[in-house]
Amino acid sequence: MSRIDRTKLKRLHEREEKRFVVEHPCSAQLYARAEHSLLGGVPMNWMKKWAGAFPVFVQHAKGAHFTDVDGRDYVDLCLGDTGAMTGHSPDVVAEAVAKRVREGITLMLPTEDALFVGEDLTRRFGLPYWQFTLTATDANRFAIRIAREITQRTKILAFHYCYHGTVDETFATLDGGVVGLRRGNIGPPVNPAETTRLVEFNDLNALEEELKHHDVACILAEPAMTNVGIILPHDGYWKQARELARRYGALLIADETHTICAGPGGCTGEWDLQPDMLVFGKAIGSGIPGATYGCSEEVAQRISARIHLEDCDVGGIGGTLAGNALSLVAMRATLENLLTRENFDRMIGLAKRFNDGVSLEIKKHGLPWNVQRLGCRAEYTFCEQAPWNGGESAARADFELERLLHLYALNRGVLLTPFHNMALMCPETTAGDVDQHTQIFAEAAAELVPA
Ligand SMILES: Cc1ncc(COP(=O)(O)O)c(C=O)c1O
Repeated sequence: MSRIDRTKLKRLHEREEKRFVVEHPCSAQLYARAEHSLLGGVPMNWMKKWAGAFPVFVQHAKGAHFTDVDGRDYVDLCLGDTGAMTGHSPDVVAEAVAKRVREGITLMLPTEDALFVGEDLTRRFGLPYWQFTLTATDANRFAIRIAREITQRTKILAFHYCYHGTVDETFATLDGGVVGLRRGNIGPPVNPAETTRLVEFNDLNALEEELKHHDVACILAEPAMTNVGIILPHDGYWKQARELARRYGALLIADETHTICAGPGGCTGEWDLQPDMLVFGKAIGSGIPGATYGCSEEVAQRISARIHLEDCDVGGIGGTLAGNALSLVAMRATLENLLTRENFDRMIGLAKRFNDGVSLEIKKHGLPWNVQRLGCRAEYTFCEQAPWNGGESAARADFELERLLHLYALNRGVLLTPFHNMALMCPETTAGDVDQHTQIFAEAAAELVPA
């Protein structure tokens, strides 16, 4: 196995950083100006984390590509970290949205599009009732509130190194079996040990031990973890976890916001998960803000029994702009035309191509890495074998190496997600786009560990 020479890694990074600055003069200028009006020089704090001395400023994006203000074209494998999984500005959504913008954007009243969307979601995921929010974070927060309310239990159960949006209960980690604050947690309202039970993914014994306390309102889970590399469930894991949740009276909430990449019905559809509630955001409206949570007949009845008309606007669930006409028309156009079996089949084929190419280069260069895939999402991690839980995967994270590989790709016209090594395919991604990444990955590997 080849080891990475850290001095060389540093040298390569300095070389790539210089190249980046020279080749992006217009982005550099905008960033210098932004530092006077935007906190940290960016409209949202995560944008600081892109590889490179500053983020590239975007001019135009369409399909699987975007152009920056310096006129450079990129293959976008990040796709807005799934918000643009249906491709940037698909015509069918752009047209529907443009029409709706002229006909009323938000009214606090329903439009017929909401019915179309609800009916479509029921066919995809098998749950009968749906509500809408602006973000997947909100959808998760509201699903958690409902679970707490109807079970009259205080805790939620989540997985070590999960990510479900800015949901307070989930910014927790396990340290020697004890739940504590996740590193970087800004202004936590309470210690998450008060709100959260945490277990490693794929560990049924640990799951049962925590459920035995009989205080868990819900298990909030991505059916496969996607935010600490891709971690697939063991065969039969969800069947047994589902059974344990029922036995101990906890609801199962499937957060399909990223795992929708598995197919038109996400992992719920592909693996017959039968969750009690389901959350889906980001790509649902091709990036027009909107998300949804759905629930089973039983959950719906239990909610109705506890929520009274007079109080329904002050219960901590909802939002003025939630379920607005613009979100719903974007969802309708996206579900009807883009998140189709036919598109998924193409996209999944491309993710397989990505994996085959990267896997070959990993082997060729004797790197102790692996590449994993879930539907149309692919990701390489710096673990020799595909990790089975968040702890294992996080232990092999390598921030410096990740930054070099991202910058190396960016300088050669390919954008990966800023937080880990994820590549996502959209309906307009081509085999040529995938091969461009593979070629760049091969060049980087050859520089890091010459044969
Ligand atoms: C699985 C999952 N759920 C929910 C969210 C939250 O989405 P948003 O930031 O759009 O609220 C994310 C964001 O990355 C996510 O990965």
